[in-house]
Amino acid sequence: AAAGTVIVAIDGPSGTGKSSTSKAVAAQLGLSYLDTGAQYRAITWWMVTNGIDLTDPGAIAAAAGKPEIVSGTDPAAPTITVDGTDVAGPIRTQEVTSKVSAVSAVPDVRTRITELQRSIALAAEKGIVVEGRDIGTTVLPDADLKIFLTASPEARAARRSGELKGADVNATREALIKRDAADSSRKTSPLAKAGDAVEVDTTELSLQQVIECVVTLVEEKRAGK
Ligand code: DC
Repeated sequence: AAAGTVIVAIDGPSGTGKSSTSKAVAAQLGLSYLDTGAQYRAITWWMVTNGIDLTDPGAIAAAAGKPEIVSGTDPAAPTITVDGTDVAGPIRTQEVTSKVSAVSAVPDVRTRITELQRSIALAAEKGIVVEGRDIGTTVLPDADLKIFLTASPEARAARRSGELKGADVNATREALIKRDAADSSRKTSPLAKAGDAVEVDTTELSLQQVIECVVTLVEEKRAGK
């Protein structure tokens, strides 16, 4: 990254506190923030809304370039629009969540979204925290700091069911394990820890502890340690 800027990649499966941590770290350090999962959800939402056959990777690839996805990168108020429509709510439905792995596995989708992510990261004047699955390995392999967050499946399911008020923990756990398996086993740019990433196991940590840990790592990087 250019002098004075810092690019932080935060990867890991769902339910590790990735989004909450990334937003808080960016806010504390005055950096921009990008939720790349929201972009994959947004393109999935558009495909569902437009009746694209999601069992047909060819149909997904053919449509991949059509929607215009715009991400707002203020960590205090991140936004996401598709062709000018605010989709922050609709991208969190069960339907989109259950279909996003199929859409995000298609190489043409990943190429397009990866280019978008790189241009957003380069445009961030003070630097950026980018969260996802393949940021340290594929999107920003030259990131100044790479973090890989993990947690036990039980802890991740408990956190997710807490977010989806009243959801059944066992069903949430099954769905989450299925989605992680799909995301980790796809051919193009799977969920993976970069060789030079710092792994932080959040199972026994509070959100505040994870945030402090990552902020310290960024500050050490900036101080040139
Ligand atoms: O972080 P999330 O649950 O909102 O991500 C939604 C999906 O998007 C996830 O199941 C996999 C996909 N994804 C991806 O393939 N690559 C990324 N960098 C981020 C998310």
